[in-house]
Amino acid sequence: ILFNYMNTLIQDCINNKFSKTPIWLMRQAGRYLPEFRSIREKNQDFIKLCLNTKLSSEITIQPINRFDFDAAIIFSDILLVPHALGQQVKFKKNFGPDLKKVDLNILNDVKKEDFLKKLNPVYETIKETRKKLSISNKDTIGFVGAPWTLLLYMLNRKSPKEGNFSVFPKDKYINNILIKLDEFLKIHIEAQIKSGASIIQIFDSWAGLLPEKDLDYFVYKPIKSLVDFIRQKKTISICFPRNINNYKKFVDNVKPDIISIDYNVDPSIIRDTIDIPVQGGLDPKILLQNKEIVRNEVTKYLKTFDKKRYIFNLGHGVLPETNPDMVRYLVDEVRSFNGQ
Ligand code: CP3
Repeated sequence: ILFNYMNTLIQDCINNKFSKTPIWLMRQAGRYLPEFRSIREKNQDFIKLCLNTKLSSEITIQPINRFDFDAAIIFSDILLVPHALGQQVKFKKNFGPDLKKVDLNILNDVKKEDFLKKLNPVYETIKETRKKLSISNKDTIGFVGAPWTLLLYMLNRKSPKEGNFSVFPKDKYINNILIKLDEFLKIHIEAQIKSGASIIQIFDSWAGLLPEKDLDYFVYKPIKSLVDFIRQKKTISICFPRNINNYKKFVDNVKPDIISIDYNVDPSIIRDTIDIPVQGGLDPKILLQNKEIVRNEVTKYLKTFDKKRYIFNLGHGVLPETNPDMVRYLVDEVRSFNGQ
């Protein structure tokens, strides 16, 4: 497979040219880093911070400077898309996202040019980041929320509680939102690729809430549409359908380039049933334990996948209470495995 960018560890991994296990972490730029917290303290409006190119590109590079990760994920948020579509999003302390109640038929009136204009600082952040990474062979990861996870935030207007949750009807209103999300997510993906993103990760953080019978409509079909689009643009796709029961069925239906797994799934079953490159898995709570436990868990994942076609990452984002020294230890352990 020929991609737009060559010679990164992740491209080698996909092309079966193993040299080293690549490592990066979801939420690698975030609250566990004192250098992030010091910027965040002075920038209370989170959306505004994501749309500040100078600060966002600086935050994107912070974990690269500290840990020399093999990829930089752009500092932004999946909820910038609802924001740019006209639904107000706020982030409240100790609560999370807080979205305004609106009639989502407003999506029918959004113009492509206005949407792109609102998100232009994100694209500038990608360009800035690529400039900063230009002499290194690291990937720049752009991302989107999957249609299902975005639909959920837009209708539920806050993070859902696991447990008491009822699926939306597959009616005209919902169908129209999914169609609009497909259209605008492709616009957002294309602009990120044009600005220099070499990989697009699709986050379906709430895929695990759905019963099996609803996966085709809310998860497989909408994500496959985005994956096919990313492939047309000769760019790598990574899918993270968090907490779904059957990763093999997801991979068979969606056919992403890389599948990112959560920590509830047994990695040896993934290895034995799935034949595309795998990313992630380690429970982020392990990083709150001692070094011996971290080392044992890291070894478990690396041994299971036997170095081949595996990208080291976590099974969800780095927790804010994580000690950066433990992340340092994790990176060193992954890199020293088998004398790399
Ligand atoms: O380092 C990176 O991974 C890149 C930046 C990034 C953020 N959010 C920054 C962020 C990425 C890739 C995301 C994705 C995202 N955002 C997801 C999918 C991944 C996942 O965690 O399941 C989701 C569901 C969101 C929505 C979101 N953003 C929530 C629910 C919250 C509040 C809860 C929380 O984790 O803080 C956010 C805020 C957010 N996004 C922060 C960061 C660094 C914390 C902001 C702060 O309070 O300082």
